[in-house]
Amino acid sequence: MSEMTRAPEKRKTIFSGIQPSGTLTLGNYIGALRNFARLQDDYDCIFCVVDEHAITVRQNPADLRRRCLELAAIYIASGIDPEKNLIYCQSHVSAHAELAWILNCFTYMGELSRMTQFKAKSAAHADNINAGLFTYPVLMAADILLYQTDLVPVGVDQKQHLELCRDIAIRFNGVYGDVFTVPEGYIPKVGAKIMSLQDPTRKMSKSDPEETFISLLDGPDTIRRKLKRAVTDSDASIRFDPENKPGVSNLLSIMSALGAGEISALETEFEGLGYGELKSRAADCVIAALEPLQAEFRRLIADKAYLQGVINASAEKAGYLANKTLRKVQKKVGFAAR
Ligand code: TRP
Repeated sequence: MSEMTRAPEKRKTIFSGIQPSGTLTLGNYIGALRNFARLQDDYDCIFCVVDEHAITVRQNPADLRRRCLELAAIYIASGIDPEKNLIYCQSHVSAHAELAWILNCFTYMGELSRMTQFKAKSAAHADNINAGLFTYPVLMAADILLYQTDLVPVGVDQKQHLELCRDIAIRFNGVYGDVFTVPEGYIPKVGAKIMSLQDPTRKMSKSDPEETFISLLDGPDTIRRKLKRAVTDSDASIRFDPENKPGVSNLLSIMSALGAGEISALETEFEGLGYGELKSRAADCVIAALEPLQAEFRRLIADKAYLQGVINASAEKAGYLANKTLRKVQKKVGFAAR
């Protein structure tokens, strides 16, 4: 068949949710955000600011409101084109909460009790083990299934939730026929794992103390200070050896991921030099990489009307897509016609 006569293939849908809690880190940028900008030509991408997930732990309302818009600005500043993709707030599309309720009735207590994130979060917030924290993965399943999502970019920490989402979809389809697309995980081919600056055996995380991560919005002085204090080792040789030299290896990974060259070339370049030099060069790299993003972020965040316009328009389109699935589900389970 020639190119002309072949039916156009439907583009695959990618759904990604990021919580508006805390600022995003350099790790989020290298591991996820900047890859999204590369996906937008080949996929329909939906970027959801999951504010409903965020309130499963107590949030300061003014901070939460501000961070939702900031996150939208960060998506755009990372190169995601709001004309081609959807960037919106979860709470603006009521279908998420509505489908979550229905899916709650297709999810077992036993399944939710086994979620390691629930166990960890309820240990960390022992004074507020609320039902939302428990059913968090069901809302996440609703997010994904509403859009007939094909692919979900997830880190290891969300794999178990995605597995549960698939189980729920398969279970529901088993009863009512093919209602949901069963999503797959999408693990980006490139993207080094960026580790904590203070404990380089752990992933860099925005929920850890400030000095352990670089925020995407950190200024040059902060970046220099944090990298200067990054934990290394006492062996004074610059080699990539994550097992024995996790701190030094992390700095090399960061530099390489930001375009400073292959790790082996960096090792050669740094031969005979000290950790001070490595840290200062790593800081140069990070500052240079974040500068354009930060400039664009500042421009966007100063234009609240534009950002509001983006999230409103996206929410309207998302709502249209989501409601198609929701109506189908409501009909299948037997809700009266409207
Ligand atoms: N639970 C995810 C996290 O904390 C965020 C999230 C919510 C999500 N809904 C999603 C991620 C849907 C992917 C798809 O990282």
